[in-house]
Amino acid sequence: MSKLHHILSTKQFLNKELLDTIFGIADQFQKQDKKNKLKKTLAGKLLASVFYEPSTRTRFSFEAAMLKLGGEVLSTESAGHFSSAIKGESLEDTIRVIGGYANAIVLRHHEEGAAERASRVSPVPIINAGDGPGEHPTQALLDFYTIKRELGPHHNLKLGLVGDLLYGRTVHSLIQLLPLIRRVKVFLISPKGLALPPIYKAILRNHEIPFFETADLERNLSEIDVLYMTRIQKERFPKNFPYQKVSTAFVLNKKILSKIRPQTIIMHPLPRNHEVHPEIDFDHRAAYFRQAQNGLYLRMALLQIILA
Ligand code: CP
Repeated sequence: MSKLHHILSTKQFLNKELLDTIFGIADQFQKQDKKNKLKKTLAGKLLASVFYEPSTRTRFSFEAAMLKLGGEVLSTESAGHFSSAIKGESLEDTIRVIGGYANAIVLRHHEEGAAERASRVSPVPIINAGDGPGEHPTQALLDFYTIKRELGPHHNLKLGLVGDLLYGRTVHSLIQLLPLIRRVKVFLISPKGLALPPIYKAILRNHEIPFFETADLERNLSEIDVLYMTRIQKERFPKNFPYQKVSTAFVLNKKILSKIRPQTIIMHPLPRNHEVHPEIDFDHRAAYFRQAQNGLYLRMALLQIILA
C-alpha cells in the first residue's frame, strides 16, 4: 500500500486492497475498544481540526479517534469567526501556520475545492472533512464500511440515494466508490430541481453502472438493499429556491417502512430534518446511528495509517 498522505477525494480510494486494509484496521480498533484494549499508538501526535462550517459527527469523531489512540487535538469550530480569517487572513496562510503546529489538519470549509487548495501549501496531511457541495470522502468511506459490516461483501447491491442529490456532498463522494461493487444498480430519488449533477452521472455511465432517476420515493422500495437518505441542504440553496416545497417531499415513516424488505438497511449521514421520522429509529433496519459510530473507528484507522 503506497503511503496515504492528504485525503481530498474518494477517487483516491478506488482500490479494493486499500479499502480492505482500512476496514480491517477499523474492525480491529472496534474490537479493541469494546475490550478497553486500545493502544496509545498516536502518542506525541497532534491533530488540528479546523471547521469553518458546523459539525457534530465529523469533528467529534475525528477528535475522539485521536484521543482514544493517545494523540492530542487542537480545535476551532466556526473558524471563519474565531480564527484570524475574520481579519482577512487567507485559507492558505492559516493552513501554513497551523501546519507548523500540528501533524495533520482536518478541514471543513464552505467552498468547493478548499481542501485541495489547502493541500497545495500544507506542510502536513490535509483531511477533507467536507468542502461545500463538493466532497466528504471520510463520510463515504464510513458509509462503504457500514454497508460491508451490515450486509457482508459488496456485490449485487441495489442502492437508493434519496434527497438532495444536487448539493449532498456525501452522495457525491459515495458514488465514486461504487465501481468497486460487482453488479450495482442505483436509484437516484430526488425532488425536482435537486437531481444529481451531470459529472456524477458521467461517473456512473463511464463505469457502466445502471441508474434510474425518479421523484417517487415509493416506486422501487421493495427491491432496494440500501436506502441512503439525505437532508435537503437549505444552506446551499440560491435565494429564490422553494425550500418549503422540497423540504417535506420525502418522509420515511412507519407506513413507508412497511414497504421495505426486512433485510434492507436505512442509512443517513446525519444530521436529519424531516426526511427520516424518529418513529423508525428503533427498527432493526435503521442503521444510521450504527453508521455514525462506525465513523469513529474508520477515522481511527485513517489517522493510524497517516500518522503512525
Ligand atoms: N455526516 C456529517 O458530516 O455530520 P456532521 O455535519 O455533524 O459532521
